[in-house]
Amino acid sequence: MNISKKVALFTPLLLLLAFSCKTETKEEKQTVNYAKELHSYARPNISAIKHLNLDIDVNFDTEVISGKATYTIENNNASNIILDTKFLEIDKVEADGKETTFKLGEFDEQLGQSLSIDITNTTKTITVSYKTTDKTEALQWLSPQQTADKKYPFLFTQGQAILTRTWIPIQDSPQIRITYDATVRVPKELMAVMSAENPKTKTADGVYSFKMKQPISPYLMALAIGDIEYKAVSNRTGVYAEKSMVDKAHFEFSDMEKMVVAAENLYGDYDWEQFDVIVLPPSFPFGGMENPRLTFATPTVIAGDKSLTSLIAHELAHSWSGNLVTNATWDDFWLNEGFTVYFEIRIMEAVYGKDRANMIALIGRQDLDDEIETLKKEPNRTKLKQDLKGKSPDDAMNSIAYDKGYLFLRTLEQTVGREKFDVFLKDYFKTHAFSTITTEKFLNYLNANLLEPNNVTFNTEEWIYQPGIPSNQAIISSDKFANAEKAIQQFLKSDTIDASITKDWTTLEWVHFIRNFPKTMTAEDMSRFDDAFDLSNSTNSHIAMVWFEQAINLDYHGNHVDQNIENFLIRVGRRWYVDTLFKAFKRNDKVEEALAIYEKSRANYHSVTANTIDELFGLDKH
Ligand code: BES
Ligand code: ZN
Repeated sequence: MNISKKVALFTPLLLLLAFSCKTETKEEKQTVNYAKELHSYARPNISAIKHLNLDIDVNFDTEVISGKATYTIENNNASNIILDTKFLEIDKVEADGKETTFKLGEFDEQLGQSLSIDITNTTKTITVSYKTTDKTEALQWLSPQQTADKKYPFLFTQGQAILTRTWIPIQDSPQIRITYDATVRVPKELMAVMSAENPKTKTADGVYSFKMKQPISPYLMALAIGDIEYKAVSNRTGVYAEKSMVDKAHFEFSDMEKMVVAAENLYGDYDWEQFDVIVLPPSFPFGGMENPRLTFATPTVIAGDKSLTSLIAHELAHSWSGNLVTNATWDDFWLNEGFTVYFEIRIMEAVYGKDRANMIALIGRQDLDDEIETLKKEPNRTKLKQDLKGKSPDDAMNSIAYDKGYLFLRTLEQTVGREKFDVFLKDYFKTHAFSTITTEKFLNYLNANLLEPNNVTFNTEEWIYQPGIPSNQAIISSDKFANAEKAIQQFLKSDTIDASITKDWTTLEWVHFIRNFPKTMTAEDMSRFDDAFDLSNSTNSHIAMVWFEQAINLDYHGNHVDQNIENFLIRVGRRWYVDTLFKAFKRNDKVEEALAIYEKSRANYHSVTANTIDELFGLDKH
């Protein structure tokens, strides 16, 4: 046996030794023990990125981002470091400033390619020079026509769940935490903002510098560039939007500071200093995305009456559940979203009262029943803890994580009492701040800190590891919704509609009213309701969406509803809306109609939405 073989044999032992020494020397940072990860090629136990310095040019003519990503790394005696990439062109790689060799692994449709970089056990930094390509999935480049003001192009990124690797080579696992600085060069008519400390005005030269000093997970890296302005709501909250939207956004979100105060009163200080929202063009594929310090939001929440702002409470809540305490793997996604829905509804209760909070909860409860019905042939997918081996993280992104997660926490709250539950949650966020958590770790923490000390027995394992809804579920009810249901019956029974019943209804009552039309309702009834309330022309996106869905279900075509559906699907790229409507077409054997619209709308969608709809109709990726 030659020496090098001996060394190779002993390497694991040496590593172990190095590892145990590490925990003993206080000056050295404790190495995190990373959980098994299905959706990243990185092996952070051997070498992990800690800080990113990003230096990029954004070219709107060629629609390419190019530049350098320099990482400070934690090196546990490694001979290489592995990053995730997808659809990136790698030009050159350096280790401590000297060019080094690298290898791109085989391409996987979901995960992309590993980028294995040769380093030595003393390497402290690596630099990757790269470019994005036209396949890059995180980015959506918008023409002026696709913006509110129609003058300048726009660009935004969407990182969650595993798309950051398509615009930055990175260790793209939620268990990784990095701080970052960035220099971003953009056309000087435009402003750039990131999930970081942000400018409030444009610079003269189009060069922007950013700093994120708290460690965040890679899926929270975010960048938006457009002809935008800032308007403060309070000294730590405010909105970014295009000129024609900024006052509307400022009015709509004028309760932001109240929400932050309510959140802090519940579960401890807001740790990120600033909480701003950027209102993006309508193709943004989500309602909201909780990028730290700067939530990205769809303009479809701007209803003119603050009726859809629970979305802001939701994204704000992620500043604790998600951004501070992060799901370790996408199998644990319910820890992000279930806690966030619970927290969102508590914020809404604190700011607007119990009625509104309960209506939000009940809408989610109904979504949960619908989801369980949809998944009736795949009951394993109704477990909170998911098993995504061989699957896309997108598979876990449904009502189970959100609404079953919520129902679990609400049932726990009801069992132990709100007072104890709030103390527990506040401690939970504090204890796990800036770290990641697996379902198992949460379970242990719950037993040790809430259930055992209070002598409570609770079927936690059933809630987390079994399909469906356990029988001890909390019952959610709302008098207002009960009245809306009565109104349906009343209007269906009589020839004339007494519209006065609805005069104090809020958006949520309208949504509930429309969603609960009986399956036997006729197109004539739809027409009578439309005459009374002009729902086909509603300017509230949520009301319009559920009404459109019913028009498709019940074969109603009056009052320009078909044209409005088509226009809506062409303008709005919010996946939840688009998916709901295309699914309704499909369910009702109207695929041809749907595809005629999709032909016109697809080019406006971000890849996240386009991929979902392609899959729905079994289309090949274009
Ligand atoms: N983090 C999610 C959005 C997300 C989830 C993006 C999974 C990518 C993968 C965000 O916080 C969210 O849940 N948004 C919701 C709004 C909310 C009020 C339920 C949405 O976009 O509809
Ligand atoms: Zn969320």
